[in-house]
Amino acid sequence: MRKYSFITMGVFLLMISLQFSAQVSRQPFLQIPSSTSVTISWISGRGVPGEVHYGPAVNSLTESVIESEEEEIYHEVVISGLTPDTKYYYSVDGASRGTEEQYFITAPQVGSSPPVRIWVISDFGQSDSDQNEERMETVAQWKSFNGNNHHADLILSLGDQTEDDSRYQLQHNYFNQLEPVLVNTPLFTAIGNHDNHDDMVNYLSTFALPSEGESGGLASGTEKYYSFDYANIHVVVLCTEVEDEEMPAQIEWLKKDLDANSQDWLIASMHRPFHSGGHHRTDDEQDPQDRRNTWLPVLEDHGVDLILQGHNHVYERSFMLDNLLGKTTSLTDDNVIDGGLGREDVDGAYKKKNAPHQGTVFVEVPGGGVASKSFELYSIFPVHYNGYEYEGSLVVDVNGNRMDVKFLCNEKDEKGSHIWDYFTIIKK
Ligand SMILES: [Fe+2]
Ligand SMILES: [Fe+2]
Repeated sequence: MRKYSFITMGVFLLMISLQFSAQVSRQPFLQIPSSTSVTISWISGRGVPGEVHYGPAVNSLTESVIESEEEEIYHEVVISGLTPDTKYYYSVDGASRGTEEQYFITAPQVGSSPPVRIWVISDFGQSDSDQNEERMETVAQWKSFNGNNHHADLILSLGDQTEDDSRYQLQHNYFNQLEPVLVNTPLFTAIGNHDNHDDMVNYLSTFALPSEGESGGLASGTEKYYSFDYANIHVVVLCTEVEDEEMPAQIEWLKKDLDANSQDWLIASMHRPFHSGGHHRTDDEQDPQDRRNTWLPVLEDHGVDLILQGHNHVYERSFMLDNLLGKTTSLTDDNVIDGGLGREDVDGAYKKKNAPHQGTVFVEVPGGGVASKSFELYSIFPVHYNGYEYEGSLVVDVNGNRMDVKFLCNEKDEKGSHIWDYFTIIKK
């Protein structure tokens, strides 16, 4: 009798453990969107073949794709053959386990111009777990600004997704806080110096990035740097962390990619800034000078509109600049395309033609979980916030020939607003 009870209990415990170990331990997240496909990644508690169920309604997940590899813990499933600009619900947990929040929307046709909202974060995973509150607050402020909704058309994450590039930190400092956004918003990441403690192995195995032009743009052949199209926007994501000998290949690819691009808007993003008076002062360092000499002329020759960077954990935003290849102290009137704030209600939006060297705005995005003090205020930044409390994120809205950019700070300003900076660029 006693022996029988032990066996019963053992079977019962085994059933419980099997049930729990099959559960999802990293919630699904979306990457490599296009108008007909998307990639969904997640982690399960034990090795099982991954399967995504999807369909037109939460209770109608009628299609499914099964992963080709068996018994994986890290899952990555590509769904293709989809209809452009269409909402699909999905589940990685069985056809009956869809939720209202678990959906993807296929990209609009390349070249079309619907309103597009991009949420930009940087240095989000960096700093230890006592920064969790600020990370949560950054996500909460985004949700509040975005009509009590986590969903954006895209997320750009500008590097330092971790502090020490450990798998534990990726989960606990990044995915856990961003989960409600990533479940229905496609993510594009850049490599930061803190993601590069292991030759980028964790980074490259965690994130799926379009090395073959899957989301538009010219194939780079590497996930370290790449480009993509979304509606009428072309985005290039560059890698400031590649070895010196890899740099020429990156620049050659960038030139060819931009030669082939004809989208209305061009955004460039990367981890380390061209110009910043933050912790790593670019006027004092050789690396940013090298990138200004080699990358910036290519971007400006192709009419780049907005340059997004992180790394220094401060908010710095330039006026409309061109061809400032030297230090900020080398600024002359020739570099100043428009020295105003670019605010419609103050001094008017920035206006530019779609042509080379018509002016670029540089934004240094602070950390989502960490903010720092600056050493210096550079004259090219009419708007600048530095301090240990000023974590936040950026919102970029593109609508036809108009781009609106806002800095959402976790703190309120003296007027009680979380929007600390805003500017507009209009294409003539
Ligand atoms: Fe950082
Ligand atoms: Fe960094």
